[in-house]
Amino acid sequence: MPDTHNRLLGRRTALKLAGGFAAFSVLFPAACTTTEAKDMNGKILVAYFSATGTTARVAKKLAEGLGADLFEIRPEKPYSRQDLDWHDKKSRSSVEMNDPNSRPAIAAQVGNMGQYDTVFVGFPIWWYRSPTIISTFLESYDFSGKMIVPFATSGGSGLGKTESIFRELCPKATVRSGRVLNGNPDKAVLVEWAKSVLR
Ligand SMILES: Cc1cc2nc3c(=O)[nH]c(=O)nc-3n(C[C@H](O)[C@H](O)[C@H](O)COP(=O)(O)O)c2cc1C
Repeated sequence: MPDTHNRLLGRRTALKLAGGFAAFSVLFPAACTTTEAKDMNGKILVAYFSATGTTARVAKKLAEGLGADLFEIRPEKPYSRQDLDWHDKKSRSSVEMNDPNSRPAIAAQVGNMGQYDTVFVGFPIWWYRSPTIISTFLESYDFSGKMIVPFATSGGSGLGKTESIFRELCPKATVRSGRVLNGNPDKAVLVEWAKSVLR
């Protein structure tokens, strides 16, 4: 705060105001962006699958930043370390990803998908696309008229064919261009990205 203002307000008042604003910023760091995001796109769900925790971290921060609900797409049968071995052609993930019709079962359903207008769907890139459990998720609900936004983490690959898979499975939804969000981005960066997609 400039010195002239401090003099006009009196040093104590100025300090109180500055302290109050700092406290407000800490308590409500994304208050404005949250309201804006909700106003623009109704109620938002962030749904994610994460085998080793990386996508989960991003999804949680995104949901917090947007003031959105969070849902974990949890496999009925969790993936073991061996299941995830992409060097092994016979591992569960290799077999599933080689079969376009594979639809691994999900342990629980979203309570009331009807209440959401926008659904962010997060996952790790497996073999240059979304894992087939995401196809199970997309086929489990009526997404007509909703907006779907894919996001992912990866070892470096992009989304590949993911968006066309989403569009094929949810022809009545608007599937927006998604993004790979590697490097554990800050909450503010995630919210900025989400706002730019939803605008
Ligand atoms: C079966 C399998 C296949 C993968 N395929 C790719 C790939 O094609 N490209 C890539 O960049 N990373 C690939 N990865 C790495 C993951 O996308 C990356 O580690 C991701 O951040 C893991 O997210 P998670 O911790 O949420 O499961 C693969 C990982 C596994 C287990």
